[in-house]
Amino acid sequence: MAGRLRVGIVGLGQRGLQHLGALWHIPETQVAVLCDPFSENLAEEKLRRFVPGLSLAGIRTCDRFESLLDTPLDAVYFCIPPGRHQGELIRAAEKGLHVFAEKPVSLFLDEALEMERAIQRAGVVGTVGFQQRHDTWHLAIRDFLRDKRLVLLTQVTNGTLESHSIKHTRTEELGGPSNRVWAANLAWSGSTVVEAGIHPLDLMRFWAGEVAWVRANYIPRAPEDIADGGDNPCGYAVTFGFASGAVGTLNFTRLRRTFWGDGYQDLAWDHGHLQIEAEGPVAYYYEGPYPPQGKVDPAALRHPLQTGPRGDTTLAISRAFVDAAQKGDASFLLNTFSSSMNSHTAVLGANLSDQLGGEKVDLKEFLTHPKYTAFRRKPA
Ligand SMILES: NC(=O)c1ccc[n+]([C@@H]2O[C@H](COP(=O)([O-])OP(=O)(O)OC[C@H]3O[C@@H](n4cnc5c(N)ncnc54)[C@H](O)[C@@H]3O)[C@@H](O)[C@H]2O)c1
Repeated sequence: MAGRLRVGIVGLGQRGLQHLGALWHIPETQVAVLCDPFSENLAEEKLRRFVPGLSLAGIRTCDRFESLLDTPLDAVYFCIPPGRHQGELIRAAEKGLHVFAEKPVSLFLDEALEMERAIQRAGVVGTVGFQQRHDTWHLAIRDFLRDKRLVLLTQVTNGTLESHSIKHTRTEELGGPSNRVWAANLAWSGSTVVEAGIHPLDLMRFWAGEVAWVRANYIPRAPEDIADGGDNPCGYAVTFGFASGAVGTLNFTRLRRTFWGDGYQDLAWDHGHLQIEAEGPVAYYYEGPYPPQGKVDPAALRHPLQTGPRGDTTLAISRAFVDAAQKGDASFLLNTFSSSMNSHTAVLGANLSDQLGGEKVDLKEFLTHPKYTAFRRKPA
């Protein structure tokens, strides 16, 4: 493709603004149009607070998706709350536009599958905002683990309800939370596992391959602990079974009144384990003669991984997308829309498992079996 990639952004809230900032710094792109139903989100003064130096000269703004489609374009970014899609992404793909969709692409499996089919039919490039794959630490872990047999992957996240940010969607006018903190609300976010847990789950997939089954139990928030629509469960225990035989656990809390968050990550292969420490990933394994000729020195077991400097992963994923779209070559991407479907299926499958009392959900069955039809469908 000759010339700069002409890009439109749908949704100029928290994530759309971050993508706008990244695209503004990629010389191979031209931001052509910004679309948001709320005019305050398109005001130059507001946009400039998030993207210093931005000028709207030469950039169209519109409040309707149809107007965005009238603009000559090559690619569209979708950065809207996951329950708010109304076929826009499908129409963009059908028009031959490359698609960058924010995670989770939908709260409903059927809708995500329809999006995937539209992208495949059109033969356009598609990706999903799993920018954490572009973190040099995570890339180094992937390379280190490549020839190892992963056994257990563990992610513990202690989060606080109050750390959710105030979003830019006027949820108070759309039947949502009055305080615009929609990520804390079950109907809008689809649960913390779907909205946030999908990132660590996708990283597990980056290292361990495809998820085959899932089992989950969520601990509901006590009624007296619910305020301002913040009704997501307060705790989540999810087990992901990988096709390789490895097992991953994701334990998440989103507690109120704690004001303390922390976490722990551990990846065990059959002869060692790896932790992400403050200075970077460190693998612990023994490489001397076996059996050892005496006491093993614990210091000799610690192997910090060599990693490159950490950069802006939001910029990195957009650079990959722009290269892929300009050259019509998905191999520039670390995840395509299609390859990301297993992450979506796994977290939506976790919700399903919880609804079924912790039943094991086989993801192939979740995708196709008639017994799950109602769970896949988007309510009318
Ligand atoms: N990859 C990441 O790390 C990351 C980080 C934050 C958010 N996200 C994801 O990005 C998506 C958007 O989240 P956000 O935090 O930006 O939310 P937000 O509420 O701050 O912003 C959404 C924007 O979309 C606009 N909008 C809503 N419906 C629209 C529609 N039909 N057409 C056009 N615009 C519409 C809203 O007015 C708002 O400006 C979510 O799926 C979220 O999970 C991803």
